[in-house]
Amino acid sequence: MHILGLAGSARRESLNRHLLKYLLGEIQARGHQTETFEFSEVPLPLYDGDLEAESGLPDEVLQLRSAILAADAVVITSPEYNASITPLLKNAIDWASRTDQETGQANVWAGKVVMLAGASPGGLGGLRALRVVREVLNEVMAITVPQQVSVGGGLSAYGPDGQLANERTKALSDGAITAFLQMAERLKA
Ligand SMILES: Cc1cc2nc3c(=O)[nH]c(=O)nc-3n(C[C@H](O)[C@H](O)[C@H](O)COP(=O)(O)O)c2cc1C
Repeated sequence: MHILGLAGSARRESLNRHLLKYLLGEIQARGHQTETFEFSEVPLPLYDGDLEAESGLPDEVLQLRSAILAADAVVITSPEYNASITPLLKNAIDWASRTDQETGQANVWAGKVVMLAGASPGGLGGLRALRVVREVLNEVMAITVPQQVSVGGGLSAYGPDGQLANERTKALSDGAITAFLQMAERLKA
């Protein structure tokens, strides 16, 4: 399958970009292709109804929508900002949920299988944001896998081999990836 990765932080040293890379590496190791949409390279404008009405969907948004459409399933990693979703991620989900008036193509999240994961320097691993991200994705008719991954402790969560050092976290991550790929494969069939 072809799996797309999105991180809710575009920061150069982002823990969530690191976690995304880790998860996509594990997915590749199971024989799938992966791609990451980098918001730092393709920054989306802040959603603005006037901009949309006057000029249609911006090019950056069209690029994101194409990447989501081309993927069999999507992995999203995100930190929590004040116990909630980051503005970058909410903005991206919102833009991708709009109908392209030029082509008539609607919400590209509908029916898309999504796995959620979060990382933070503290102990929570983005957990409270993931609840909100799940709610928003539910609203746009994506199919979120119940299993999710939370990695606290920043980069010290990874051992020298680059793997998650905590056995329980590693097992949860492996289980979430298995459930995600199974659901994506079933829906693709
Ligand atoms: C506006 C803001 C709010 C934050 N709120 C929380 C929070 O509620 N809980 C938490 O664990 N960390 C919080 N943090 C810290 C982030 O988890 C930390 O900066 C993290 O490294 C950001 O993710 P990134 O490394 O992927 O960029 C907050 C950071 C910012 C900038």
